[in-house]
Amino acid sequence: MKIGSADVALVTGAGGGIGSAICKALLDRGAKVVFADIGLARAESVRQQLGVGDDRAVAIALDVTDGEAWGRAVETAEAALGPMSILVNNAGVGHRCPLAEDDPQRWRWVLEVDAFGPFLGCRSVLPGMLARRRGHIVNIASIAGFSGVLGMSAYCAGKHAVVGMTESMRIELAETGIGLTLVAPGSVATHFFANSASAISARAREPELGPDPLADGITPDRVGRRIAEAIIGNEPLVLTHPEWKTALATAYADRFASVGVGA
Ligand SMILES: NC(=O)c1ccc[n+]([C@@H]2O[C@H](COP(=O)([O-])OP(=O)(O)OC[C@H]3O[C@@H](n4cnc5c(N)ncnc54)[C@H](O)[C@@H]3O)[C@@H](O)[C@H]2O)c1
Repeated sequence: MKIGSADVALVTGAGGGIGSAICKALLDRGAKVVFADIGLARAESVRQQLGVGDDRAVAIALDVTDGEAWGRAVETAEAALGPMSILVNNAGVGHRCPLAEDDPQRWRWVLEVDAFGPFLGCRSVLPGMLARRRGHIVNIASIAGFSGVLGMSAYCAGKHAVVGMTESMRIELAETGIGLTLVAPGSVATHFFANSASAISARAREPELGPDPLADGITPDRVGRRIAEAIIGNEPLVLTHPEWKTALATAYADRFASVGVGA
């Protein structure tokens, strides 16, 4: 889908990291952008730093786990900027804790943000997009959507759910004119773990934080630009880290090579 001034994009988790980089890349391509985040002040400050006027960008408070808030967000966004043609389900949280010691409330919360949030987002914008026969949805999963990660069972479960949901949507949306891109980033240098930990501390005992494994990741700006390209090319799957292509293909082949078949 060509991106231009007639497009309105809503990006969740736009208050920093990959989300704000996606907003910037879409603005650079001419789209109008809704910066949505559970932290309105963070989203508004990113919008102001980018120096765009409120005729091209607005910041709104949105907790992606709240269905009614989604309804209000889409209404507000469309009243301010026009019909929504791009949705990027980017907001996400995660924590590290062995499953045997994990807090059920925290585990459920990660699933709600990472999996139920994208479902609510798609459910909220798709009727309008289908009626207009135009739109593109980007779901941000992770390499953790294709493999296990030590001490991250909730995050992996949530990201596997996003992969499964997106692959089902792909079948449903074929021939509708609505594009769909699944993004599986490897390490990106953001404050993901610190941000999640401060949100988690309000809900459960904060898990031990070791050294930040994302410090050596690629820049969020690279991911943002890559996602804008993927919308334009209607690319089904983006792996931001090429080395994961072979690693995941090998892991899947190994998994099936060793499986016992038959009832
Ligand atoms: N950083 C990485 O290495 C990496 C790798 C793979 C996938 N991802 C995914 O990329 C996405 C963005 O992560 P990031 O690295 O930019 O982290 P980040 O912490 O910088 O950004 C996440 C944003 O989501 C917002 N958020 C959290 N809960 C929310 C909620 N309930 N409703 C609305 N907004 C909420 C936070 O306020 C924050 O601004 C996430 O889905 C993450 O899982 C990140």
